[in-house]
Amino acid sequence: MANKKFELLDPATGKKSELPVRSGTIGPDVIDIAAVTKDHGAFTFDPGFMATASTESKITYIDGDAGVLLYRGYPIDQLAAKSSFLEVAYLLLNGDLPDAKQLTEFTVNIQRHTMINESLLRMYNGFRYDAHPMAMVSAIVASMSAFYHDSMDINNPRHREIFAHRIIAKIPTIAAAAYKNALGQPFIYPRNDLGYCANLLHMFYAVPCEPYHVDPLAAEALDLLLILHADHEQNASTSTVRLAGSTGANPYAAISAGVSALWGPAHGGANEAVLDMLEEIGTVDNIPKFISQVKDKASNVRLMGFGHRVYKNFDPRAKIIRDMCHKVLARMGRADNPLLELAQRLEEIALSDDYFISRKLYPNVDFYSGIIYSALGIPRSMFTVMFAIARTAGWVSHWQEMISDPHMKIGRPRQLYTGPVKRDYVEIGKR
Ligand code: ACO
Repeated sequence: MANKKFELLDPATGKKSELPVRSGTIGPDVIDIAAVTKDHGAFTFDPGFMATASTESKITYIDGDAGVLLYRGYPIDQLAAKSSFLEVAYLLLNGDLPDAKQLTEFTVNIQRHTMINESLLRMYNGFRYDAHPMAMVSAIVASMSAFYHDSMDINNPRHREIFAHRIIAKIPTIAAAAYKNALGQPFIYPRNDLGYCANLLHMFYAVPCEPYHVDPLAAEALDLLLILHADHEQNASTSTVRLAGSTGANPYAAISAGVSALWGPAHGGANEAVLDMLEEIGTVDNIPKFISQVKDKASNVRLMGFGHRVYKNFDPRAKIIRDMCHKVLARMGRADNPLLELAQRLEEIALSDDYFISRKLYPNVDFYSGIIYSALGIPRSMFTVMFAIARTAGWVSHWQEMISDPHMKIGRPRQLYTGPVKRDYVEIGKR
């Protein structure tokens, strides 16, 4: 593949350019299009970045057709079976799996940063009782930039490392405070003797008036969900973090931008939307009517939890999560959950329908994650927050990779302008 080039010919001027082709370690080649603008004065046009690699990265690899997802080269199914979320977070951040000493050090570092400043806690009181937790999480994470601004030099690797540890450690505390605020319950301080997910569940469900014991299966299921959601290369929220961070903005502000981007129903909000959809369908008998609505373009109804920009065969995470979903429901005595039955039937019907087959629409990770979260007692409005906790590890890793790249440039796309051509201002009385 070395020295492969694409030739570009402008038929109007006869001008030719050679576009260099770059190869990664795996995956499709990319064509370096810098010469298109330099030599021909034209921009490339690719709304939604359907065909554009926005950056070079060594973190995560996806082959959408083959249903492959690798974190730093390791297949997601192996990590899901053998690893833990904190080990995966270390892997994403540092590039290799830790040895036992490195993992212990990393875990201790994360456990020592779990508390948030009391004045941040007071900020939650400014939100109305029914504020969406994603709004609170986004605001509190952005506010952390005020606490760690002058002390944070993004060009200092040690400062970047402390930032990474702080945000991974504090995001569960921030999420739990949002949850408790919505419930009107007192905030529960983190417990550094508990594991990452056990501490999260404790902060969610403990109350000061009685002891709370974390169910190990709940912690295990949560850990798996966090592993599966930890990174997904240049998705909308990660690209948002990179774009915001490329300006040199405070990294907490960049992560907050990622939280906001994740919130939408086409991205992290999908698992919440799946449960809304299942409830709306109600019973198995209503599935055919719902499917015909989905197929009717005028209805604007989508089968939530189905389809993916990259996976056009199957989402490898959906397979892993489906098995955990059954395990959790069985252990929690909720195997006869009507929503799960409905979801399974809906999946069967959709997978045998030509509309979905011809468009390569398969269940994505969020088709089942919401059902697990509900079984764990996590309210629907918190689903996307759980996703944000996991994805923080990926966002930070991408931000790190970008900032430590000596060739980093501010992200600044161009456009195809189709607005009015130059015209003169008309006085208000003459319009
Ligand atoms: N239900 C019904 N039709 C769908 C769906 C769906 N869920 N997804 C795509 N389609 C159809 C489109 O209408 C389109 O049909 P057409 O060719 O006849 O016009 C075709 O499939 C291609 O769809 P696009 O919107 O072009 O696909 P894109 O890659 O842009 O969208 C997306 C991907 C946003 C995930 C989409 O499939 C979707 O909206 N899914 C539902 C929301 C969802 O589950 N999001 C979670 C994504 S995973 C994650 O963020 C963790």
